[in-house]
Amino acid sequence: MSLVQEIDYGTPRSRADKMVTLTIDGQPVTVPEGTSIMRAAMEMGTKIPKLCATDMVEAFGSCRLCLVEIEGRPGTPSSCTTPVMAGMAVRTQTERLKRLRKGVMELYISDHPLDCLTCSANGDCELQDMAGAVGLRDVRYGYAGDKHPDPGKDESNPYFTYDPSKCIVCSRCVRACEEVQGTFALTIAGRGFGSVVSPGLQEAFFDSECVSCGACVQACPTATLNEKSVIDIGTPEHSVVTTCAYCGVGCSFKAEMRGDEVVRMVPYKNGKANRGHSCVKGRFAWGYATHKDRVLKPMIRAKISDPWREVTWDEAIAHTAREFKRLQATYGKRAVGGITSSRCTNEETFLVQKLVRAGFGNNNVDTCARVCHSPTGYGLKTTFGTSAGTQDFDSVEHSDVIVVLGANPTDGHPVFASRMKKRLRAGAKLIVIDPRRIDLVRMPHVEASYHLPLLPGTNVAILTAMAHVVVSEGLVNEAFVREHCDWSEFEDWAAFVCEPRNSPEEVAKVSGVAAETIRGAARLYATGGNAAFYYGLGVTEHSQGSTAVMAIANLAMATGNIGRPGVGVNPLRGQNNVQGACDMGSFPHELSGYRHISEDATRAMFEALWGTPLDSEPGLRIPNMLDAAVDGSFKGLYIQGEDILQSDPNTKHVAAGLAAMECVVVHDLFLNETANYAHVFLPGSTFLEKDGTFTNAERRIQLVRKVMAPRNGLGDWEITMAIAQAMGFDMAYGHPSEIMDEIARLTPTFAGVSFEKLAELGSVQWPCNEKAPQGTPVMHMGGFVRGKGKFVITEYVATDERVGPRFPLLLTTGRILSQYNVGAQTRRTANAVWHDEDVLEIHPHDAEQRGVRDGDLVKLASRVGDTTLRAVITERVAPGVVYTTFHHPGTQTNVVTTEYSDWATNCPEYKVTAVQVSPTNGPSDWQEEYEELTRKSRRIAATVEAAE
Ligand code: SF4
Ligand code: SF4
Ligand code: SF4
Ligand code: FES
Repeated sequence: MSLVQEIDYGTPRSRADKMVTLTIDGQPVTVPEGTSIMRAAMEMGTKIPKLCATDMVEAFGSCRLCLVEIEGRPGTPSSCTTPVMAGMAVRTQTERLKRLRKGVMELYISDHPLDCLTCSANGDCELQDMAGAVGLRDVRYGYAGDKHPDPGKDESNPYFTYDPSKCIVCSRCVRACEEVQGTFALTIAGRGFGSVVSPGLQEAFFDSECVSCGACVQACPTATLNEKSVIDIGTPEHSVVTTCAYCGVGCSFKAEMRGDEVVRMVPYKNGKANRGHSCVKGRFAWGYATHKDRVLKPMIRAKISDPWREVTWDEAIAHTAREFKRLQATYGKRAVGGITSSRCTNEETFLVQKLVRAGFGNNNVDTCARVCHSPTGYGLKTTFGTSAGTQDFDSVEHSDVIVVLGANPTDGHPVFASRMKKRLRAGAKLIVIDPRRIDLVRMPHVEASYHLPLLPGTNVAILTAMAHVVVSEGLVNEAFVREHCDWSEFEDWAAFVCEPRNSPEEVAKVSGVAAETIRGAARLYATGGNAAFYYGLGVTEHSQGSTAVMAIANLAMATGNIGRPGVGVNPLRGQNNVQGACDMGSFPHELSGYRHISEDATRAMFEALWGTPLDSEPGLRIPNMLDAAVDGSFKGLYIQGEDILQSDPNTKHVAAGLAAMECVVVHDLFLNETANYAHVFLPGSTFLEKDGTFTNAERRIQLVRKVMAPRNGLGDWEITMAIAQAMGFDMAYGHPSEIMDEIARLTPTFAGVSFEKLAELGSVQWPCNEKAPQGTPVMHMGGFVRGKGKFVITEYVATDERVGPRFPLLLTTGRILSQYNVGAQTRRTANAVWHDEDVLEIHPHDAEQRGVRDGDLVKLASRVGDTTLRAVITERVAPGVVYTTFHHPGTQTNVVTTEYSDWATNCPEYKVTAVQVSPTNGPSDWQEEYEELTRKSRRIAATVEAAE
């Protein structure tokens, strides 16, 4: 194995269609118009020396190292800033150029410390490389570098250092921060010899606007910006390309290694989801894989009040199988079930649902997508015919109007947000529909044309009012609707949205958004060119989540914004493999590829391959399993990679359900909160320890590659397979690729997918089959998958969760950039320095009314429960609305969320809870108990560690 080296072409690719032919050093080369000479040379394999250019950012032309000669032109222009022209004859290596380049390098080296042997970038430094490339043998101006400014190292960022003594002021970092990340945190301060890179207003990196994406570190050609892990361990010696295991963007990374130790994760430029960019989580927050809290040995206990007992894998598997068989023999076949996870690979997820359907003989399998994007599946399948987003991420580059609804991409989907911001800086218009003033509403070089700060729970009313404007003002794309949609359903829908009660003026009364703002946003969406919706859990996690998804689809169809690049309906998936978990048949009523379990022909196909009859009745959803457990009819649960106690609503009810079961098996990395109720703990492995695939928000299937052996000794797929075998159901695979082969045989949209194809193409977007062997970047081109697009009447029904005198505020929730979901991984990394507790955002007016000051501890109470957290007073939230995150078990935000859920899918209504906020002196009772438990388990762990 060696390091995966990616070519740096020096300048970005030109997108021009017209091709131009020139000669470079006498060789003809043909490239798109607008390509730089530097890039054209690199395309034919000639590396022109360079320092300030790199292909992730536009050319700058400051170092003067890349000079070339052009026949018929005077001087020696820089090749990075000079575009090619037809017939041009370029020379990259002449005596004059050699002399000039040596002179430039002499100046650089004379201003640079010569401590190469002890420098962390030794062997990985472009300055060193260029000294070699130009044949530098002497420096006439000395080596002292004593005029070089050295204000001292900045080590404030937990993951990288800034050592200005090594800076060559090439400005690559500044441009990466602006152009790739879009944060504008850096500038070059001072002039001449006094020039230095400055975060913010000459602040430390940690105190500046920097969001630690790492783009500047990657762009830096020297050790000035360097990963602390490289400084600590040394330069890597081999790398493996794999996929981030955090969010639904699905960034590709090179895991750069020394032996089996990860040195750093470098975003992979050939990754089609991220195009070489990353965020702080994927780039830096992988240390949890080797955290001391990882449980590496299986454990069992008879009662949840007993201490855990470490056992062998054989004993743990045999015990699990025995228990599930006993429960089925005693309480019936349907008394047990399983939960799959969107954090796990497609192959692992497929096996868990197979274990339940074929091994347990029932359909009691559900997934954590139940609590996030199940309404997306339902809504898009109903209207378009496919339970998935319509576009690829590249599509945003063709959008003229972008609607962000109930999503906070800069925190939740940061790498896609950077691409979106780039398009917005280039002129696309933005509409934000969100109760909270998210960063995108106004940030450097981005400002929303409209922000609709609606009251939580009124998405459907707003979307229907937008449709009212579209129809009543004659903005419908009638030709599109007539050709692609059911016309009579459209007419019914059009009559419905035109009813006066759906007008912006009426909806303003329930949503709190001014009628003119709704009208303006609707007109812009319908008439502004290619318009695309991007939405998140702020749409789905409502009692009308599925209705809202269909309301978005209605708007897209009515305006013809579907079926080509730049438009569409795009769910921004929360977890890395939410799309995949749903695709793999994790819902109780659906087999892989979204085919209903009651379809005889589909079932027969699975039965023939699996050699066992399948139950035709849909099984229980997660909330139904918990209800049944409380009622006494559901007794055993296998939970892979999911902490339902923290992530599901109404924590008390979840706890009661778990406590009522006789065998709860938790298969995870850490002893999570759910494991407090478990009888068997099966250690899982991280993405670094497994082979498989994840499917991101754009339906892109990507390989996850093992970079180290599973620290617990077994792959997660092997564990599920062992349980099945121990229960008497034969499962036999030699490698996850064989599981994918089975998925492809059984699932028409995956028919053309294999590990070989993924390795060859890098990734594919499903459907990938005979009709689309290379996959499908944009769906519904030329027609909807279901035939005619279906308009659905979207009657607004207010949630039953109402504010009143006892609970007068509405709580809504979301994520923060540095943390991920329940924080099991990110809290075990240095990311904790940015967000070590969940806080409650409250408007100054509401705070004043309650006597709450900034930083006070407050009690957040709903009719279901209460928790205590610190208040942050801010106008980001409107009066009447409070907001918090859900990353810390010490807060357990879901203690207060209710049992209300989406009418179609049971997705919980996390985004609307009526609450009261009041000053308090200390934690809630349960929090004190939790703290005591945590202290106790820390004491036990410390004692065990000391004994070892
Ligand atoms: S880490 Fe990212 S946000 Fe921070 S300065 Fe570098 S490029 Fe900018
Ligand atoms: S920190 Fe690195 S990338 Fe930035 S100007 Fe200095 S040498 Fe160039
Ligand atoms: S944007 Fe998402 S997938 Fe990409 S690095 Fe960040 S967490 Fe990972
Ligand atoms: S690489 Fe062209 S001027 Fe620096």
